[in-house]
Order: sequence, then structure tokens, then C-alpha cells
Amino acid sequence: MSANPLLKIDGLSVYYGKFRALLDVSIDVGEGEIVSIIGANGAGKSSLLKAIVGQVPKVEGDIRFEGQSLVGRGTPDIVKQGVALVPEGRRLFPSLTVEENRTLGWETGRRGGMSREDIYGFFPVLKERRNQPANQLSGGQQQMVAFGRALLADPKLLLCDEISLGLAPVIIDELYKILPDIRDRGVSILLIEQDIGRSLAVADRFYCMLEGKVNLSGKPDEVSRDDVIKSYFGGHE
Ligand SMILES: Nc1ncnc2c1ncn2[C@@H]1O[C@H](COP(=O)(O)OP(=O)(O)OP(=O)(O)O)[C@@H](O)[C@H]1O
Ligand SMILES: [Mg+2]
Repeated sequence: MSANPLLKIDGLSVYYGKFRALLDVSIDVGEGEIVSIIGANGAGKSSLLKAIVGQVPKVEGDIRFEGQSLVGRGTPDIVKQGVALVPEGRRLFPSLTVEENRTLGWETGRRGGMSREDIYGFFPVLKERRNQPANQLSGGQQQMVAFGRALLADPKLLLCDEISLGLAPVIIDELYKILPDIRDRGVSILLIEQDIGRSLAVADRFYCMLEGKVNLSGKPDEVSRDDVIKSYFGGHE
């Protein structure tokens, strides 16, 4: 890990009213890395991503992107700096077409390396269906549109929240195959997953979360599967 990672989260706590969903979480993502966060339902994974893009009510601690604090800044401003989110549940506009949904990604004003044609290159099926409303697409195709929309913002860091949720294994394989290609285009990736196997297969490093805390981290091939499973499910010492 370099001394100046792209994303540096230090001692982050997230509150919803009095409820503390994250407690003292510290996570780094370096340039060119795919980092995954694994954890069961309610571990705080989505809260972590939402905190990065300024979408939780209250945080304590520090979130730095390229050395600049993101805390207290608005989402559009954060996206403009180069962070994009593929949200949990995709959040497309169902009656808008593929092309219209993707166009919303341009709002940020960043204009960079990733073009529409590049994105259709990752997901050729979207080109065929670009004039079709999003609600007529399969779940996997909708996920591709959500990816495309985030990539059009030309991020340096892509945050992905459970991209495999509700999709068939063959479609999940296809999405996961594209992640290293996206990384090779200069986009670092922070990937949230419940699926331990898939997520560790693609990650350079991982963190495991349980009940709002990080309880294990490392490189997938340097940590035993037993330790990962124990940390994932918790249990009594
Ligand atoms: N808007 C909110 N208001 C109050 N509590 C919330 C809110 N969003 C999340 N929480 C709580 O914070 C905790 C962490 O939720 P979060 O959605 O971050 O978990 P997660 O790891 O993403 O879970 P999942 O795998 O089910 O998506 C949970 O206990 C949840 O009930
Ligand atoms: Mg979640």
C-alpha cells in the first residue's frame, strides 16, 4: 500500500439518529487496486459507500480522496472530483431508454477517457438495446446500464454496491469479468459484496465487516478461508 492512497478512510463512524451503523472504520484504496468489502446483511457495507459519496446524515472521522477531505461536501461535488457509485438495486429510471439513463451520467461535467463507445465495448448488448426502456431489460442488462451511467462520469474510483444481487450466475460471471478491464483503464474499484468467493477472486485486497466494524483485512491469498468465514459470520470467542 502506498503512503498516499487514492482513498483514505480513517476512524469513520456513521450515525442514523442515535444509531451508530459504522464504528471506527479505516480503509484504503490505492491507485489501480480492486478492493472488496465483504460482510453479511446489515454489516454496514452500503453505509460505508453512502458515507463516501456524502449520502448519510452524520459522520465522524476522515474520508480523503486524493488527499482532499470529502466530509461535509455534496454528492455532485464528490462525483465531480472523480468518485462514482453503482448503487445497490441499480436505481434506473424505468421508463427512460438505455441511452437516456446513461446520459444522466454526464451531469458531473467531467469529460475524460471513457467514451460512450468504450462503454458499449464493455457491454455490447446495450448498444443493440439503446433505444429500449430500462424496464424492458433483464436484471443483468439493467446492471450494465447502471455501470455505464457511473462510468460516463469518468471516475477515478468506482464504488460498486452488490452488483450480483438477484442475478443469474452466468450474468454475474460476465459482470465480474469486466471489472479488471475497467481497472486496466485506470479506474480503481471498491467493491461491496455478500458473495465471498467471487469477491475474493477478483480483489487485490479485502476487508471483512461485521456489525459496523472491520474485523479482518488482507490479501485474499494470504488469509485462510476459515478465518474469512469466521470473521464474516462472527460468533462467540
Ligand atoms: N437510513 C437508515 N436509517 C436508519 N438505519 C439505517 C439506515 N440505513 C441503514 N441503517 C442501518 O444501518 C445498519 C447497516 O446497514 P447497511 O445498509 O449499511 O448494511 P449492509 O451491509 O449494506 O447490508 P445489506 O447486505 O443487507 O445491504 C443496519 O442495521 C441498518 O438497519
Ligand atoms: Mg447494502
